[in-house]
Amino acid sequence: MCGIVGYIGNKHAVPILLEGLHRLEYRGYDSAGIAVIERGELCRVRMPGKVNSLVAQLAERPFESTIGMGHTRWATHGKPSEANAHPHANGDETIMVVHNGIIENYQTLREQLSARGYRFSSETDTEVVAHLIEDEYTGDLTQAVKRALRKVTGTYGLVVMHAQHPREMVAARRGSPMVLGVGDHEMLLASDVAAFLRLTDRVVYLEDDDIVTLRADEYVIDTLADKHVEREAERIEWQADEVELNGFRHYMLKEIHEQPDTITNALRGRLIASEGIAHLGGLDKVLNHLKEAQHLVIVSCGTSYYAGLYARYVFERLTDLVVEVEIASEMRYRKTNIRPGTVVLGISQSGETADTIAAMHEASRKGALLLGLVNVVGSTMSRITEAGVYNHGGPEIGVASTKIFTSQCAILVMIALLLGRFKHLAVTDGMEIVAGLERLPTHISTVLKQADAIRSIAASYAQYDNFLFLGRKYNYPMALEGALKLKEISYIHAEGCAAGEMKHGFIAMIDQRFPTVCLATKDMTYDKVLSNMQEIKSRGGKMIAIATEGDEEIAEVADDIIYTPPNLDFLQPIPAVVALQLFAYYCAIERDCDIDQPRNLAKSVTVE
Ligand code: BG6
Repeated sequence: MCGIVGYIGNKHAVPILLEGLHRLEYRGYDSAGIAVIERGELCRVRMPGKVNSLVAQLAERPFESTIGMGHTRWATHGKPSEANAHPHANGDETIMVVHNGIIENYQTLREQLSARGYRFSSETDTEVVAHLIEDEYTGDLTQAVKRALRKVTGTYGLVVMHAQHPREMVAARRGSPMVLGVGDHEMLLASDVAAFLRLTDRVVYLEDDDIVTLRADEYVIDTLADKHVEREAERIEWQADEVELNGFRHYMLKEIHEQPDTITNALRGRLIASEGIAHLGGLDKVLNHLKEAQHLVIVSCGTSYYAGLYARYVFERLTDLVVEVEIASEMRYRKTNIRPGTVVLGISQSGETADTIAAMHEASRKGALLLGLVNVVGSTMSRITEAGVYNHGGPEIGVASTKIFTSQCAILVMIALLLGRFKHLAVTDGMEIVAGLERLPTHISTVLKQADAIRSIAASYAQYDNFLFLGRKYNYPMALEGALKLKEISYIHAEGCAAGEMKHGFIAMIDQRFPTVCLATKDMTYDKVLSNMQEIKSRGGKMIAIATEGDEEIAEVADDIIYTPPNLDFLQPIPAVVALQLFAYYCAIERDCDIDQPRNLAKSVTVE
C-alpha cells in the first residue's frame, strides 16, 4: 500500500522526506509527491513514476523548509498520474493531505461537497478529505481534522498541513499503520519505522482513531472523540544499517543471504535442548489455554498463507490438534466453525495486512483466542492479539517475502514442538527436533553456497514462459511458495501442485516447453514423487529436482539437481525453499525484472 512520511524540526525537510520515501517505496511505487511550507506558502511537487523521478524534479526546484510531508503511491482510486498523485489539496491549496488507505464513502462526500461548490481535480478518494477539512476549518487545524474525519468511513493513515500553520502538522490513523518518531527538536511520521531509523529509534505507535498534533518539540495525542491520550515513546530494536543494501544488488538477494542469521535469531533463547522443548515467552500467558486447546485455525495471506499450510502438516505430526488453514480474504466471509476456545493464529510479516486483521476481528467476535506470529514489532496484529511470537527477523524490504517465510516455518515448528510436548511427544523426540532445528542455519548456508550453480540453472530455464512446481506433504506448500516467488518477481506463469494431484489434470500442460521443479527431498513420499517425475519424463518434460545430498537415484530422472543436506523429513523443506528463492531471483535477473519492486505488487496490503 502507500508509504507516508512527515517531518517537522530544524533540518531541511526535503532530503529527509526523500530518504523516507525511498525506504518506503516497497509499499507502493506508481507515483510520488511531497509538500512543504516555504515562506508561508504550501508548495507541492508530485509526479507519476518512482521516487527517483521526484528527486530529479526537486533538484531543479530546491525548497527551503523545515516542515513537510511525502507520499509514494499504490493506486486504488484513479490511475497513476500527476493529478492523482499525493499530496491532494483544497481549492486554494492552503490545505494539503497525504493518505494511505481507502475513504469508503468518498463518492457521497464528493457529491455533497460538489453540490456546495467544491471543485475536484483528481479521481481519488483522498481529495475529499482536503475539501472536508477546509469546510470544517475555523482557525484550529486539529479540530478541523477531527470534525472532517468524523464524517469519513474507511481506513486511513493521514497527514495534514495548512499554510497558516507553518509550525505544526496533524496526523490521524484508523486501520492503516502510522508511527511517530521522536527526535531531538524534531518529530517524524511514517507508515513504517524504516523511513526514519537513521534519525531516531524512539517511536510512538498510533492507535486507531488517534489524532496527533506535531510541533518540533512536542506531540499531543487526542482521540477522534476528543479524549486526550498520554503515550510514551518506546525504543525499537532495529538498527539503521539493517535497512541498507550492504553491498547486495537487491534487498531480496540480501534477505535471502540473511537467512542463516534470521533463523538463528528466531531460535535464539527459545530451545531447551536438555528437555527437548521450545519456550516462547510471548505465549506464556496463554499456555494453559493452549494446553487444553483442541482446535487451531491458522489465517494469513500470500507467502504467510503457505507458511500456514506447511505448519498444518507439522502440527498434525507433533500434536493432536485439529488444524485448519484459511486464506484470510475468504475466511472473513465464510461461516467458519470457530467457537469460544478455538485458537486462531494470524501469521503476517508486516502485521498490517487488512484481510488477515479483519478475519481475526471476525474470529474474536466468535470468542476465539487470538495469537499472532508477526515480524514488525508494534504492528496492528501484535496489538489486537492476546499473545504471540515475533520473528525478530529485522526489516524485510524486498516485496517478495523470503527470510521471514523460512523464519515463520521454523517458529511454527517450535510452537508445534511446545504443544506436542504437552501431549504425546516424548523428550527424545523433542531432543531430535531441537537438534534438527539447530542444524537449519548451517543447512541453509550450504544451499546459499550453491548460488552460482543455481544461477546457471536459472540462466538455462529463464526463457520458458510456464513452470510447474511439484511437492508432496511438507514439500507441497514449498512448491506453492516456489511458484509464487517465480510469479511475483519474474512474471513467469508458474503453478504449484500437489504431486499426487498432477495426473488429475496438470499433466496435460507438460511438454518440452513446460519445465517442472520437483521438491523431492527424502521422506516417506519420496518414491511417489519419483514416479510422478517418471510420468513427466515420459512426456518429454524437463525437470529440476531439489533433492537430499547423497541421492544418486534422482539423477536418472532429473535434468538438473540442487542438493540440500539431510535432516528430519519436515525440516528439509526449509533449506529447499531457499534454493527456489534463488532460482526465482536469478530467472528474474535473466529477464531484467525490477526485483525489489515487482509491478503491481506491494509489501503489505493495508486495504481490503
Ligand atoms: C503481499 C506481499 O502484499 O502480502 C507478500 O507482497 C506477502 O509478500 C503478503 O506474503 C502477506 O503479507 P503479510 O505481511 O501479512 O505476511
